[in-house]
Amino acid sequence: MKNITVIGTGYVGLVSGAGISDFGHQVSCVDIDESKIASLKKGEIPIYEQGLESLVKRNVDANRLTFSSDVSNAIKDADVVFIAVGTPQDDEGNADISAVLKVAETIGSSLNGYKVICTKSTVPIGTGRKVIEAINKTSGPSAQFDYVSNPEFLREGAAVRDFTHPDRVVIGADSQKAFDFMKDVYHPLYVNETPVLHTNIETAEMIKYACNAFLALKISYINEIANFCEEVGADVFNVAQGMGLDGRISPKFLHPGPGYGGSCFPKDTNALASQAEAAGVPLQTIRGAIDANGIQQNRMVQKLRRLMEGSFENKIIAVLGLSFKPQTDDIRESPAIPMIRSLLEEKASVKAFDPVSNDNMKSIFPNVEFLQDVNSAVADADAAVIMTDWNEFRGMDISRITSLMKTPIILDTRNILNTDELDSSGVIYDNVGRKKTNA
Ligand code: UGA
Repeated sequence: MKNITVIGTGYVGLVSGAGISDFGHQVSCVDIDESKIASLKKGEIPIYEQGLESLVKRNVDANRLTFSSDVSNAIKDADVVFIAVGTPQDDEGNADISAVLKVAETIGSSLNGYKVICTKSTVPIGTGRKVIEAINKTSGPSAQFDYVSNPEFLREGAAVRDFTHPDRVVIGADSQKAFDFMKDVYHPLYVNETPVLHTNIETAEMIKYACNAFLALKISYINEIANFCEEVGADVFNVAQGMGLDGRISPKFLHPGPGYGGSCFPKDTNALASQAEAAGVPLQTIRGAIDANGIQQNRMVQKLRRLMEGSFENKIIAVLGLSFKPQTDDIRESPAIPMIRSLLEEKASVKAFDPVSNDNMKSIFPNVEFLQDVNSAVADADAAVIMTDWNEFRGMDISRITSLMKTPIILDTRNILNTDELDSSGVIYDNVGRKKTNA
């Protein structure tokens, strides 16, 4: 059993902290935001993440998981300190690592014996060396620590499962002692034979970006193929199926849609492309994926405009789904945002519904009407556009929905509706790369 301190209680820090305590370690999750810590102490979880509340409760009840805003003391008590603070995008598209370096300085001034300092935040390649320098700056010359890069691969909405059942664990460590400490932290995963990769620090940092950028590239690729399918009468659903059955390709992340969003892919692709350009090795493929994603988002607006015969003016549009993907209330970089913005700019009235993200979107678009269910959102609408693939939209009763609408027009940007059912219900529809009505 190790004493672990996790600094930063965002979705990465909180899921990792709770997950590590579930592995049997003593974990203190700390944050400088005192109100957040006060809520966590009361058992309130600040984010919507499947399974997190019960994971936290179980480990708090077992006295393995505590919360504190006393960062310094929590560092002193720890064998391993995880840095899991935010690295937002700056104006030039780079990741801003100032919070990480500030934490590193605090760690340096609190060192009181050998510790492993481990970064989980997604940080530009080379940040590890800067963190070591920042720790050295504030620590005494006799400070003993090793540095590790241990990137996370947690999907929002499935983060708890991804933490407890990862495909692999990546540990970037120059010291064998630090690697052995990390092996102890992840001990239960060893028992389950999860692959654990020991690399140097820069390699671990690179793996994280290379994975996210590759997945973003895969999505942009299938989106472009879907667009091409539309012009030549091919069905992207079957194309993706045919591609995915090739073991070298895999069927995952081959679902076309309105473009990727979220707090990671847009930020990480930009950061990786900027870093590579600065290093003199531009990543043309990733730049292509980023550009294609912007084009894809606009294309959804164009599709809806075409279905509406050229104009949104004075039309009522129901937007179904606001989060960047299902199982989360996160709307950061959600494709629903540019869609709603265009509709409002072009003088449509927007009625929106999302099972969990209405309140978040309200803060961006106070003039949108937010409804509590699909039926009220589509009532009297001139068109409906599905922006998020929530399961409850898959099972919608199409004839009931269209009977409530003023005109039966649906843009399905997630390809979740059955085109035969749409045809038999007389819907005028479009999607991404599949059969559509000739509106
Ligand atoms: C992503 C990665 O999947 C995680 O491994 C990584 O740890 C995380 O970023 C991170 O860096 O923290 P996440 O942003 O939660 O996780 O979301 P994803 O499930 O990867 O989806 C990203 C976007 O791609 C969503 O907008 C989703 O709708 C879209 N997408 C995904 C598609 O359009 N098509 C697909 O086939 C798959």
